[in-house]
Amino acid sequence: MTKSANTMWGGRFAAGPDAIMEAINASIGYDRRLAPQDIAGSRAHAAMLAATGIITDTDAEAIREGLLTVLSEIETGEFPFSTALEDIHMNVEARLRDLIGEPAGRLHTARSRNDQVAVDFRLWVRDQCDQADEALAALQKSLLGQAEAGADWVMPGFTHLQTAQPVTWGHHMLAYVEMFARDRSRFADARKRMNTSPLGAAALAGTSFPIDRQMTADALGFDRPMSNSLDAVADRDFALEFLASASICAMHLSRLAEELVIWSSAQFRFVKMSDKWSTGSSIMPQKRNPDAAELIRAKIGRIFGANVALMTVMKGLPLTYSKDMQEDKEQTFDAADNLMLALAAMTGMVADMTAEHDNLKAAAASGFSTATDLADWLVRELGLPFREAHHVTGSLVAMAEAKGCDLPDLTLEDMQTVHDGILEGVFDVLGVENSVASRTSFGGTAPSQVRAQVAHWKEVLK
Ligand code: ARG
Repeated sequence: MTKSANTMWGGRFAAGPDAIMEAINASIGYDRRLAPQDIAGSRAHAAMLAATGIITDTDAEAIREGLLTVLSEIETGEFPFSTALEDIHMNVEARLRDLIGEPAGRLHTARSRNDQVAVDFRLWVRDQCDQADEALAALQKSLLGQAEAGADWVMPGFTHLQTAQPVTWGHHMLAYVEMFARDRSRFADARKRMNTSPLGAAALAGTSFPIDRQMTADALGFDRPMSNSLDAVADRDFALEFLASASICAMHLSRLAEELVIWSSAQFRFVKMSDKWSTGSSIMPQKRNPDAAELIRAKIGRIFGANVALMTVMKGLPLTYSKDMQEDKEQTFDAADNLMLALAAMTGMVADMTAEHDNLKAAAASGFSTATDLADWLVRELGLPFREAHHVTGSLVAMAEAKGCDLPDLTLEDMQTVHDGILEGVFDVLGVENSVASRTSFGGTAPSQVRAQVAHWKEVLK
């Protein structure tokens, strides 16, 4: 028995789709998430159709009431979703027809699913930009709490994951506050650019009805209608910009996650993750695994993946709409969900972790971390050119290494065999506390600088 044709567009079809056709064509399995946006878009459209005299006020009112019923049915889970009706747009409209009859058929005047889906998805992505901003602000606050507590805790700073120079814990935390601030500005920037309305572009060419696109744009919180109807239905830059911003943000998250994995290891013991954010091993009783950090580190894969997938869907598509573009949603939903989850987990993990300051300090003092301070002292006090000071310091490091001690453990006599001008005062700069305290240049690691930055961020994040 052949299925009957689609009631929404099947006028010219004698038979319904093959079951596999229906399966590949339907998006209702995931685009049902757009129901609130779809209904908001339809309400704005119906109100505009009435205001411009394209439909009667009575019909607009029936549509409005009906849409509210549909929304509440969806919210309570009673809504009869149908795969045969393909997507959220036709599911909503078909249900509206069941509820209110003939006026439902007038809703689609001067509109197409092409501008409808463009507006729905844009509203959804815009909302995700706002949620990302909120989640990032919460994460920044967690980091700021750590920075404030440990503005003067000394730890090793690394390059190449080799001990480089002592830095402060607060400074390291604030580096991430800066990164997440740039992420926020990227989402905000993308949001600003996406905030124009495609509604009223209709299928692709605009419409002969006297619609008011500014009115629907205003109702949906857009700045203005998009100026080119072809672009309006063909554009998915907004989702790509969201995914690109999400990818960079996830990259930042994964760097922090990686540091937490390293720092919480028995070899480093820089931080202790709280019980709430650790897991045990079913066989090794001593284990405390940083699973949340590892999962955050891994999430970047699917977020990058979504970005690349949608870029690939869009590349080479002729204007305007092609059904390829239906593949924009699932990956974007997944990327957004996982980004929000990763941000929330990182926020909790950072807030609850404890820095092991004694270990941080001991590690800061090892690995000849104050060698640069020694070289700077030779320049400042003895007037050596930096290159020569670097060379002298290198010899002193080699000497300490041969003796199996750190730089402050060398005697003055030892040092003078390398350069006879070296004086007792050199020992003042070899301690890690003095080292960090001296780095007062703007943006430097000195506790005084860190405290100033903490004060700045407290003001910004208030
Ligand atoms: N479900 C479709 C999508 O997500 C809606 C637009 C369909 N438009 C069309 N002309 N078939 O892209």
